Amino acid sequence: MTGFVSLVGAGPGDPELLTVRALRRLRDADLVLNDALVHADLLELAPKAQRFYVGKRAGRHSIDQAGIHQLMIRAARRGQRVVRLKAGDPFVLGRGGEEALALEAAGIAYEVVPGLSSATAAPLLAGIPVTHRGIASGFAVISGHAEAAYAPILDGIAPGAMTLVVLMGVKLRGEIAGRLVARGWPAATPAALLFGASRPDGFTQLTTLAGLVASGGDELATD
Ligand SMILES: C[S@@+](CC[C@H](N)C(=O)[O-])C[C@H]1O[C@@H](n2cnc3c(N)ncnc32)[C@H](O)[C@@H]1O
Repeated sequence: MTGFVSLVGAGPGDPELLTVRALRRLRDADLVLNDALVHADLLELAPKAQRFYVGKRAGRHSIDQAGIHQLMIRAARRGQRVVRLKAGDPFVLGRGGEEALALEAAGIAYEVVPGLSSATAAPLLAGIPVTHRGIASGFAVISGHAEAAYAPILDGIAPGAMTLVVLMGVKLRGEIAGRLVARGWPAATPAALLFGASRPDGFTQLTTLAGLVASGGDELATD
């Protein structure tokens, strides 16, 4: 008996923003493995499923990536319908590709269900189009978690050439904004910090690159 794994994008948080396919997979699931950013309301949509938290809290993983692969593979081999529920879109900065490769290597039948990525949904919900004729004809999505991840990309973009969407960027926002200003981006370039978009506790802070540099040392809880 062989089960099936669905790597499902949960969207930015509000259950109304799930895809119809994601909702169906949750309803049919025997086991749901979820991340920290996946809201509890979404888990209520999987009434038959056993739930297992595999996310990261306070910087520590409850289980490592290889352990998540093993959990999915073992459950599928037991014949279970597994939903691996991931924030946003599974293939945008969320290790969904690694999980697909692990399932592929183990010969497990699987699918990937796209989700609304926070990279575009969060700006949209704050009223910010990532492209706008005459202002930005493109956008880049980067990880702000470490300099090695963002520096080569930022250094290759002409100042002001496009909208930059930085995920996991709160901690290093001062460094990132400072790097852009040093490369010639105007200090007055508009910037926004977007927290918990689509969730009841979500909020937006509008600022500029100079404002991000100035506030860079302040502790902000969410990212
Ligand atoms: C590991 S990345 C995963 C991104 C996800 N795969 C996606 O497509 O949205 C997690 C980061 O996504 C961003 N994020 C996810 N959900 C968000 C939301 N509802 N509002 C704002 N940012 C969000 C945050 O920057 C967070 O640190």
